[in-house]
Formats: sequence, C-alpha cells, structure tokens
Amino acid sequence: MERIDPGLAREGKVKIDFAETRMPVLRYLTDRYKLIKPIQGKRIAACLHITKETAMLMKALSAAGAEISLSGSNPLSTQDDIAAALTNFYGIGVWGWRGQTAEEYFSCIESVLGNPPHITMDDGADLTVHIHNKYTDLIEGISGGTEETTTGIQRLTALADAGKLTYPIIAVNNAETKWDFDNVYGTGQSVLDGIMRATNILIAGTNFVVAGYGHCGRGIAMRARGLGAHVIVTEVNPVNALKAVLDGFDVMPMLKAAKIGDVFVTATGCKDVITAKHMKRMKDGAILANAGHFNVEVSVGDLERLGVRKREVRPNNVKYELEDGRRIFLLGEGRLVNLVAADGHPPEVMDMSFANQFLSVLHLIKRGKRMEPKVHPIPREQDEFIARIKLSMMGKRIDRLSGEQERYIRSYESTI
Ligand SMILES: NC(=O)c1ccc[n+]([C@@H]2O[C@H](COP(=O)([O-])OP(=O)(O)OC[C@H]3O[C@@H](n4cnc5c(N)ncnc54)[C@H](O)[C@@H]3O)[C@@H](O)[C@H]2O)c1
Repeated sequence: MERIDPGLAREGKVKIDFAETRMPVLRYLTDRYKLIKPIQGKRIAACLHITKETAMLMKALSAAGAEISLSGSNPLSTQDDIAAALTNFYGIGVWGWRGQTAEEYFSCIESVLGNPPHITMDDGADLTVHIHNKYTDLIEGISGGTEETTTGIQRLTALADAGKLTYPIIAVNNAETKWDFDNVYGTGQSVLDGIMRATNILIAGTNFVVAGYGHCGRGIAMRARGLGAHVIVTEVNPVNALKAVLDGFDVMPMLKAAKIGDVFVTATGCKDVITAKHMKRMKDGAILANAGHFNVEVSVGDLERLGVRKREVRPNNVKYELEDGRRIFLLGEGRLVNLVAADGHPPEVMDMSFANQFLSVLHLIKRGKRMEPKVHPIPREQDEFIARIKLSMMGKRIDRLSGEQERYIRSYESTI
C-alpha cells in the first residue's frame, strides 16, 4: 500500500519552505512552543487535505512534541510531493496519495489509527466517525478531537444529537478567524483558480451560477463578480438568499438558472443540488464544478447516465456528450475543484485556520478529559489572540477601548 514517492520529496520541501514565508502566525506559535514542548509524546491522528499549508501545521505540532500520523481527507486532494517531503524530511507518518479508490482512502485512515491517538484532527469527519463505528476500543485513550470544515461539524453535531459522540470536539471551522476568512476568501479565490486552470475560459461575461450563499458561496460569488461574471445565486435559506439580493446578485431557483448558466459551482454541503432535471435544461458547453466537501452536490451518476460519450479534454475536465449533441463539462470529477484542479487555499488564510487547530490541540491536551462529549466552540479569546497576531504580523495596528468607553458600552443608562 506504500505509495509515497521519495523522488518527489525535494520538490515538496521547496513548496513547504515557500508556504513558511506566508504563515507568520504558525511560525510564531512554533517558535513559542518548540522549547517547552507542551504536547511531548502525545499522538495525533490527522485526516486533512495534504497540502503545503497542512505540512506547516504538521511541522508546528511536531516541533511542540507531538507524534503525528496523517492521512488525506479526500481521494483526489493529496499533493504527492508534499506527502513525500513530510515523510522524508520531517518524520511524519503519511498515508495518502492522489487518485485513491474509496477503499484505499479508508484503509489509509485505518493505518493512521494503527498508532492509537490521544487527539484526532479531522476535515469532514471521516476519521472521527470511523473511530465511532469501528474502532471504539481507541476511544478510552482519546482526550478530544478537532474538526476543520462545515460538513464535518454538521456530521459530528448529528452524531452528538444521536447521543453517540463519545469525546469532545472543538469546532475549528466555526472560529471567526477560520469560517469568515478561510471559507470566504480562501475558497473564493482558489475555486476560481481551479476553474480557470481546468478550463482556461474567460470568466468575464459568463452567467456564473453559485449554489449556496453561505461562507464559501459568498466568497466564490464575490470573486466571480470581480472577474466580470454576471453572478446568479441559488439558495434554500431565505435569509442568505436575501443577503445575496442585497449584495447585488441575481437570485432564482436552480431549475431556472440551469437554462441560462455558463458555469455552475455548488457550495452547499447538501446533496443533489444539480441533477438530471437541471442537466437536461442546460446550454451546450455548460461547465459544472463543486466546492462542497463531498462529491454529491453535482450528481455525477446522473451525468454518467445522460452522457452517451465522455472524454477528458484537459486535466481535471471531462466532456460528456448527451444524446442530443449538447456537451457538458465536469471539473475534478465533482470533487472539491479548488483542491483537485488547483492548490487549495492560499497559505496566508490557512495560517489562521491552522493556528486555530494548533491552539485547539493544546486546549484539548490540557482540558479534554474534563470536557463534555459534544461539539464545542473555540474560546473567544483564541479568536482574538489569532486576529491580533495576524494583524501585527501584517504591520497593522488598531485602537483600544478606553476604560470610559468600556463602561459606556456595558451601561444601560440613556445618554440623551
Ligand atoms: N472547497 C473548499 O476548500 C471548502 C472550504 C471550506 C468549506 N468547504 C465545504 O463547502 C460547503 C459549504 O460550506 P460553508 O462554510 O459555505 O457552509 P454555510 O453553512 O456557510 O453555507 C451553506 C449554504 O448553502 C445553502 N444550501 C444548503 N442546501 C442548499 C441547496 N440544496 N441549494 C442551495 N443552497 C443550499 C445553505 O442555506 C447555506 O446558505 C461544506 O461542504 C464545507 O465543508 C469547502
């Protein structure tokens, strides 16, 4: 099963060294904790997209004393050169390669669990749910876990609601310094990057349909508009739909958008957002991409059934020819287009997400065993701490409330 190619290690290290120059908060945390090693000897089982930014988190945790085993969190998102560099240069146990089958993907998660963890670190909840379903004997030794993405939080909250979550999870995704930056600016930029690398189309002038106007959808819509697209939003949540209208976007049901869209991107965390009934209405040449965690937002099965011929026209871009001659292009097999067809989120934004991961691990090592087995928000002070370091590393200063101002905003007295 060993698929790490040591020949790629040097190339991967060059990319990690580059990421290091753009991730000052993680550098700061590494320097602060490398001497005191607060997690010395603690074993972390991680299931994350294997990118240069993740490598920086692994390096920081390892410098703080952790022993890490890492698997990829999507069969198509692993960057093989980074996996090789992590193994060869940093002594991290890595199981993952690009282009895995579902079976190989889960067997890599099982290999990670071969080193019984004190902490789990997940992106999408596959590792945590796998432990709860199949490796319950490991639970006793686990102090807690972290979760990186919206879909993972959704799944683990469902597990907790069913009374089956057995250890505390810190919802890293829901930190303000994560959700409002990584999902918005990170996904916004990298999804457009992925679409452009897979197609090289001109975005300007397209009817660009974004399904879901949450954090990711808002970022994607913003960046598509910046490139000159006419953006159409589809939603199921009336409040978020209203936000899209007031942000100046066109809002309509997918069935209507299907007829006019040139490019479609799903970012909902839901399933069957684009199915056969939409595909049957689409224009010749329509392009479909997904940014949500799982490859269930665009029904790839429906496209396979409707297509009479299919052919890869560029890397990560497959043309499906329908019976009536129309052509629909599917990017990245309907998996996260920004990680499959581009490099994933930029390091500057992952700096904050992974600083949250790092500090959450320290919190769990100290307090996890005393925390309730539920999904916990990150402490407010952690968000503010990360934002302050990020700002100062960017050379930005802000005002502070005076004592008088503090008292004023906490007072119920009228000042008329
Ligand atoms: N590609 C990436 O790198 C990346 C990064 C972060 C998050 N994600 C994933 O993206 C997805 C969205 O995350 P988010 O943080 O934006 O979530 P969010 O909860 O902020 O937003 C999701 C939005 O989708 C809407 N929605 C749900 N079902 C819908 C449907 N059937 N049709 C139209 N709209 C629908 C919801 O009403 C909501 O407004 C999740 O799966 C998350 O895990 C991907």
